Amino acid sequence: MDITPSRAAVLQALDAIKDPKTGQGLSAAGLVRGLILREGRAGFMLEVAVADTALYAPVRDSAQAALAALPGVKQAQVVLTTEDAGPPSPSAGPTPRKAAVAPDPKGELRPTPTATRPDHVKRIIAVASAKGGVGKSTVAANLACAFARLGLNVGLMDADIYGPSMPTMMGVFGQPRMTADKKMIPAEAHGVKVTSIGLIVEPDNAMIWRGPMASSAVVQLINEVAWASAQAPMDVLVLDLPPGTGDILLTLSQKIAMDGAVIVSTPQAVALADVRRGAAMFRKVGVEVLGVIENMAYFPDPSTGAPIEIFGRGGARAMAAEIGLPFLGELPIDIALRQGGDIGAPLVASHPDSSVAKAFMELARKIS
Ligand SMILES: Nc1ncnc2c1ncn2[C@@H]1O[C@H](COP(=O)(O)OP(=O)(O)OP(=O)(O)O)[C@@H](O)[C@H]1O
Ligand SMILES: [Mg+2]
Repeated sequence: MDITPSRAAVLQALDAIKDPKTGQGLSAAGLVRGLILREGRAGFMLEVAVADTALYAPVRDSAQAALAALPGVKQAQVVLTTEDAGPPSPSAGPTPRKAAVAPDPKGELRPTPTATRPDHVKRIIAVASAKGGVGKSTVAANLACAFARLGLNVGLMDADIYGPSMPTMMGVFGQPRMTADKKMIPAEAHGVKVTSIGLIVEPDNAMIWRGPMASSAVVQLINEVAWASAQAPMDVLVLDLPPGTGDILLTLSQKIAMDGAVIVSTPQAVALADVRRGAAMFRKVGVEVLGVIENMAYFPDPSTGAPIEIFGRGGARAMAAEIGLPFLGELPIDIALRQGGDIGAPLVASHPDSSVAKAFMELARKIS
């Protein structure tokens, strides 16, 4: 039974809230963008100029309350975004904190003074690659589980707005619950606190968002999760980034105080060229690259265990050395690793004694 309210009813309710600039209703003023109405969920993007973020923060709150009050709406989300990816709204923002200052290989220091970190989160690590499909999400999920097995309090944010994979990989579904002060409570799976942008916005809908809108939505959502508290601080938050060196990466690195990035690559030359691009991008924005992981480095022969080097092997190690980055380790092509990802049971949690799980534990130790 679909009891989601009609689009017309939603727009009418939103028109009862006035745009502080024009005095028109929000819908009439053209401020309701990317409206999502599905299975008890309602949400949209409120896109304003950077200078107006403070002015519109209460409007966002009223609009979200108005959506939540509509019959049939179980979850409402209004994301305040700025046209040119300016600072996050004061209502959503945690207190600015001095960002990590990463040493640039040329000796320059490039602090990112506007970057913030969600409250009580000690470290943020991004898992990234310029090329898609190299195993970022697989690495992010298993690394997070490995950190948890090391006894750390770990969070995992699926920041891939265009192709979220953590619901499937970590086995978390359903709407996030909210705290009294309107923060999302992350789901808990395999000892890791998980939130996926896929639980909040429709990937289909996200596709139509322009770069800056999508980027500021990701930043805002990271800050709207109740990751940790003074009593239970989070040791490390792992971000699974979308592929590429585009808008989202740029905005994230400027707005979220990331302590470091791990670059995942497969051994092929085409992927390796992207390692160079990815590393250059992180350097440019002052995020330290902690190192490179070579994924799908080889396939162990099923009968002898001898490595079959399907994509070649060792390319990422050589590339890391060439551009002066630490090489963190290699992971084989492993069917159980893929299967674990397909059924929401990451190998590190489901088969901790397997050799691949042990390789992840080693990576986690090196990174931590
Ligand atoms: N070492 C591995 N052995 C076997 N399968 C793997 C391995 N690493 C990743 N895979 C599989 O390859 C596919 C792509 O991996 P994954 O989704 O982690 O990549 P990604 O880099 O996050 O992709 P995207 O760029 O689309 O976000 C998945 O089906 C995953 O299970
Ligand atoms: Mg992915």
